[in-house]
Amino acid sequence: MNKQQQAGAGLSRRHFLYGGFILGGGLLAGPVLAGQGCRTTAGDILGPYYRFGAPFLSKLAGPDEPGERLVVSGTVLSADCRTPIPNALVEVWQANGAGLYDTQTPGNFTDKGNFHLRGMLYTDAQGRYRIETVMPGRYPVPPNLPGLEKYAGITRPAHIHFRVMESLHVPVTLQLYFAGDPYIAKDPWASAHPDNVIALEADGEGRRGGFDIVLVRGV
Ligand SMILES: [Fe+2]
Repeated sequence: MNKQQQAGAGLSRRHFLYGGFILGGGLLAGPVLAGQGCRTTAGDILGPYYRFGAPFLSKLAGPDEPGERLVVSGTVLSADCRTPIPNALVEVWQANGAGLYDTQTPGNFTDKGNFHLRGMLYTDAQGRYRIETVMPGRYPVPPNLPGLEKYAGITRPAHIHFRVMESLHVPVTLQLYFAGDPYIAKDPWASAHPDNVIALEADGEGRRGGFDIVLVRGV
């Protein structure tokens, strides 16, 4: 039974935590219910490292990129948590394994330099997206960021930034976090968005996780 079928069977929900680790050759569990009910995806800050105009690609990291391989996939859904949204624009950006972005100039959103570990893609006819990358590294909040001064020095948990938009829905900007990260609890953004924390499943090549994104209808 796929996710849409599950939703149709009355298990309407926003996204799933893939808690099934492969042990002894068998997948122990399928999707685990993350929370009851259908909730639209909560937005989060854009952050200082967003840059407009990333290239269209879904493989953010090439084979030479240091770090553990990570695949994140899911479906962009309308507010009923079951209607897929095709051709939604999904922007993703992240730090490298060492916690560095391709620009270390916060707030330079229109920097047109070389893009690295950033991309844009459209969801397919079933509303699905898939990105291939590496695990992002943690990094401290830089000092003297306007509005964020009091958070300077806080270690951000590993995360990937998303910005998702489609013409009939309200865009959402969020950060995706990973269960078990000890820095989530003290991070003001991660701790406030438990629905945007997913568990990862390990396989021989790296880690994988599923994350569905539910947009608010604009009309
Ligand atoms: Fe970030």
